[in-house]
Amino acid sequence: MTTAVTATALVVAACTDDGADGTSASLPPSPCTSAVGTCSLAEAGRAIDVRIGVALSSSQLADPMIAALVRQEFTQITAENELKWSEVERTEGVFDFAGADALVDFAVANGLETRGHTLLWGQRQGNGMPPWVREITDPARLEAVLQRWIQAAVGRYRGRVQRWDVVNEPLAIAGPGLDQNPFLAVLGERYVDRAFAEAAAADPDAELWLNEVGAETNRERADALVELVTRLRARGVPVHGVGLQGHFVNGEVPAVGQLRALVERLRGLGVEVALTELDVAVRTDVADPLQVQAEAFRQITAECLEGGCAELSFWGIGDAFSWLDTMLRRPADPLLFDRSLQPKPAYEAVRNVVAQG
Ligand code: G3I
Repeated sequence: MTTAVTATALVVAACTDDGADGTSASLPPSPCTSAVGTCSLAEAGRAIDVRIGVALSSSQLADPMIAALVRQEFTQITAENELKWSEVERTEGVFDFAGADALVDFAVANGLETRGHTLLWGQRQGNGMPPWVREITDPARLEAVLQRWIQAAVGRYRGRVQRWDVVNEPLAIAGPGLDQNPFLAVLGERYVDRAFAEAAAADPDAELWLNEVGAETNRERADALVELVTRLRARGVPVHGVGLQGHFVNGEVPAVGQLRALVERLRGLGVEVALTELDVAVRTDVADPLQVQAEAFRQITAECLEGGCAELSFWGIGDAFSWLDTMLRRPADPLLFDRSLQPKPAYEAVRNVVAQG
C-alpha cells in the first residue's frame, strides 16, 4: 500500500519546498478521496465524527515536518507534559504556561481541538504534582491551592481547550480502591468531586474527563473504574467522559471483545469514552513484530469504535518520541509513525479501520 507513503511524501515535499526553515510548510492537498485506503487518518476520523489525537511537546512543533504531519493526520492534540501541574507551577504562585500556550495556539490556528492533560495526578511515582503540593497536610490549604491551579489553567484556555483530563489515574496502582495519593490522604475521595466542580466553574462548556490506565486488560480494574464513575455520577459529579489510556507496554492486547465490552459498560453510564494515550510496544518474541503490532492496533481500533468511542489519541507523533523507550529500556517503537516519521503498518491498519467506519 503506497497511499500512506504518498501522503507522507506530500508532507515531506511541503516541508522541503517551503525553504530551508520550513517554517511556512503549507499543508499539501489531501490525498483523500474518501475511499478506504486513500484518506488521511484525520479525514477518515472526521468522516465518522471520531477525534484522532496525538500527544506532543511544544518543542516538536518547531519541526515543520512534524507540524505538517500533525495538521494532516490528526484532529486533536494533547500536551504530553506541559500542562501538568508539576510542569506549570513548579514554584507556588508562579505559573509557566509558555509550552502549553504554544501547543494551544497551534491547535487553534490549525483548526484542531485540545485535550487538557492533566489537572490532578497524585500518584507518588508520577510527575503530576509539584513537590511543594505533596507536602501540604492542611485540608483548607490544599483545597485553596488546588482551586487556584484549576482556575488558572482551565480559565486561561476557556473556549480553546475543549476537554480536560480533570483527574488522572485515581485508582490504586495495584489492588482495589483508590490511589493513596496526598489528595486522598488529606481530602478523602471527595477531592475528585472538588476538582470536577472547580473545572466546571472555570469553563462550563468544557468536557470534563476521568482518565485511567490498565482497565482495558484487567477486569478487576475495569470493575473498579465502573464503580467509581457510577459513584461520582450518582453524587452529581459532572463526569462527561472516561479516558482509557491504552498503554499496551508489553505489546499484548485485551482478549477479543474485552475492550468493546468495557467501552459499552462505560457508555451505559452515560459518559463518552476515548482511548487517550494509545501505544503498543513492539513485541520481541514474534517473527514479524510490525505486522503483529499492526494487528493489535487494528483490533483495538475496531473494538473501540464498535463500542462507541468518541476518540482515538496516540501517545506521541512518532517512535523517536515515546516515553516507553525509557520505561522499557529498549526501542519500543509503539506508535503509528516510525523514527523517520514514515507511516508503519500500524498506521495503515488504524486508518483503514477508521475509514471503513
Ligand atoms: O521538565 C523536567 C526538566 O526540567 C528536567 O530537567 C528533566 C530531567 O529531570 O525532567 C523534566 O521532567 C520530565 C517530564 O517528563 C518532562 O519531560 C520528567 O522527569 C519525566 O518523568 C516526565 O515523564 C513523563 C511522565 O508522564 C511523567 O510526567 C513522560 O514524558 C510522559 O509520557 C508520561 O505520560 C504519562 C501521562 O501523563 C499519564 N498516563 C501515563 C503516561 C506514561 O507515564
